[in-house]
Amino acid sequence: MSYFNRLLLQCRSGFEKEAAAEITDQCANVGIYGYCKLNLGDGYVLFILQQPGDAEKAIDLVNFNTLIFIRQWMVCGDLLLLEQGDRISQIQTYLDDFPSCADLWAEYADTTDGRELATFSRKFSSALSQKLRQSKQLQSKVTQSSLRMFLFVLSGTEIYLGYAPVNNSAPWPLGIPRLKFPKSAPSRSTLKLEEAWHWFIPKKDWDQRLPFSAKAVDLGAAPGGWTWQLVQRSMFVTAVDNGPMNDDLMESGQVTHVQEDAYRYQPPEPVHLMVCDVVDKPVKTAQMAVTWVKNGWCNEAIFNLKLPMKQRYQEVIACLNLFAEQFMQEGLAYELSAKHLYHDREEITCHLRLL
Ligand SMILES: C[S@@+](CC[C@H](N)C(=O)[O-])C[C@H]1O[C@@H](n2cnc3c(N)ncnc32)[C@H](O)[C@@H]1O
Repeated sequence: MSYFNRLLLQCRSGFEKEAAAEITDQCANVGIYGYCKLNLGDGYVLFILQQPGDAEKAIDLVNFNTLIFIRQWMVCGDLLLLEQGDRISQIQTYLDDFPSCADLWAEYADTTDGRELATFSRKFSSALSQKLRQSKQLQSKVTQSSLRMFLFVLSGTEIYLGYAPVNNSAPWPLGIPRLKFPKSAPSRSTLKLEEAWHWFIPKKDWDQRLPFSAKAVDLGAAPGGWTWQLVQRSMFVTAVDNGPMNDDLMESGQVTHVQEDAYRYQPPEPVHLMVCDVVDKPVKTAQMAVTWVKNGWCNEAIFNLKLPMKQRYQEVIACLNLFAEQFMQEGLAYELSAKHLYHDREEITCHLRLL
């Protein structure tokens, strides 16, 4: 199995160094060491493992949900250089030693060049899946304990072949949930909050954790893209911002606009959900989220940490340390998830609540 000596990690183009720093740290935490190969702008990183078997170990021991900058991952070997012609049969020759998988996704880098391979990838993986099912090289049923086979397509003849556990990898191809921009939403950033819900709250829990008629506070709300999502779930929203809110949203009767500083605002009574999209120092926003959750001003908080600086990974680690220190001091158990969402740019989105 020493053939599988690397992890291929997808990220937003331009965030390869953050993805590399993250996988290096996460693997070191479980005693696995390697080095990264990356080109800035490629939208993926290769992590080369030193010991045979370590790539498989890493993908088992590191919890995918704890990864922030890595959108999707797989264990793989060297780049396959295929000949023009019957490429399906060529791929099949590499499957003798391959672990048994239940389905196949063909992915590509989320870059301008990568996206041009979308149609080829879809057609090729569909034909390959059909062939592998006929030859029983793919199992008949996908379960949570299955492995998923991946192709990571660099061109029609250059492909990484790999796999990842279904229950320890992104649930959407390329790690990108396909969301449709709602025409009546006042800003594109509305999709950030919707994507955050998909990553952080299991859909089966939405009715309980994003309950209809609940109270919510949206800090830095204008013009109202995030408030729009809350209103769609029939919540009653206090929108805190000195800027103007969208008129249609105000007419819903579910929004109270408060013109105040987000960092000074205190809710008159506890609310279910606090969300915050203010552009300010990450540590300041992290501290504010701790205050809200620790004081019981909200049950759950979803907030953006803006990362316009060079040392983005270090800044995120400083925030994670702040959460750990503050909650440990109080003896409070908490749940924190953070993700560089597809709809995030130079920022990550976090979810925080007490356990
Ligand atoms: C990125 S925009 C929010 C976009 C909003 N989430 C949406 O979906 O439409 C950031 C907002 O934060 C507001 N803001 C910045 N600093 C603030 C502060 N200290 N208190 C309140 N609002 C603030 C700005 O006025 C701006 O409207």
